[in-house]
Amino acid sequence: MKIGIIGAGMVGSSAAYALAMLGIAQELVLVDHNTALAVAQAEDISHAVPFVSATTVRAGDYSALDGAGIVMIAAGVSQKPGETRLELLGRNARVFRDVVGQVLAVAPQAILLIASNPVDIMTDIATRISGLPPSRVIGSGTILDTARFRSLLGRHLGVSPQSVHAYVLAEHGDSEVLAWSSVRIGSVPLLSFAEQVKRPMTPEVKTHIEDDVRNAAYKIIHGKGATYYGIGAGLATIAKAIARDQRDVLSVSCVMPELAGVRDVAASVPRVIGRDGVIADLIPPLEPHEQQALKESLSMLKEIAVSIPV
Ligand code: LAC
Repeated sequence: MKIGIIGAGMVGSSAAYALAMLGIAQELVLVDHNTALAVAQAEDISHAVPFVSATTVRAGDYSALDGAGIVMIAAGVSQKPGETRLELLGRNARVFRDVVGQVLAVAPQAILLIASNPVDIMTDIATRISGLPPSRVIGSGTILDTARFRSLLGRHLGVSPQSVHAYVLAEHGDSEVLAWSSVRIGSVPLLSFAEQVKRPMTPEVKTHIEDDVRNAAYKIIHGKGATYYGIGAGLATIAKAIARDQRDVLSVSCVMPELAGVRDVAASVPRVIGRDGVIADLIPPLEPHEQQALKESLSMLKEIAVSIPV
């Protein structure tokens, strides 16, 4: 499969590097308005390829996306220290009005994979601009938040994050919902497992994990100016599920007809992802306070999305 990446900055190039290391695509094409950057990133990644895969990595213009099965859009500006994801909206909406049309003109069959923040609103905007079925416009959503949640739970409980079945729902941002009540380790409910391994989930532990998930990006951005390796791996994971039709369950963003009483809103729930994009939504059982938080997050996203004309 050919995979295009629009935006050869740190997120786009980290995703391209992860894709190359995993050998997911036959060909990667990096497109950026800064041609020199795209060429340099492609050249650098192509020098890593001989160690692990046979991926062709090159820079090109939009015409080079012809035949791409997936086009990842990581174009736009990223958060500055202390800036929320939602504050990027106006600048990135303008970028998308230009990018989405050019992508579909040469790759009308592609699944669009949205990385630019605020990713849920950008997923909504890309869906409206493209006119594609919502199932073919996927945002990275809370895939990274879910990974952070699983990693912190696994560290506390002494188990691999791969054996922690936990999800973060709704906005990839400050209103996200950690679905604590549906966490399972293997097939064992969280509190039961924690007691079994004598690592109780005290209120202090829960608060610590919740804060670390919610504030991970802010802390990293404060220290190094941006996040890119985690999201790059998350984007590659979604692309792998599509390219190999793996039907993985991933918490990603997509426009839904209705959830928690909110209509036509892009946000994250666990979804089955395969060759044609989103195959099914899997809404986990939630406690009343989690359901209320979900409704509030979706309502906020919907209110912002409808304020952005395309
Ligand atoms: C983060 C960025 C990708 O959460 O929003 O690291």
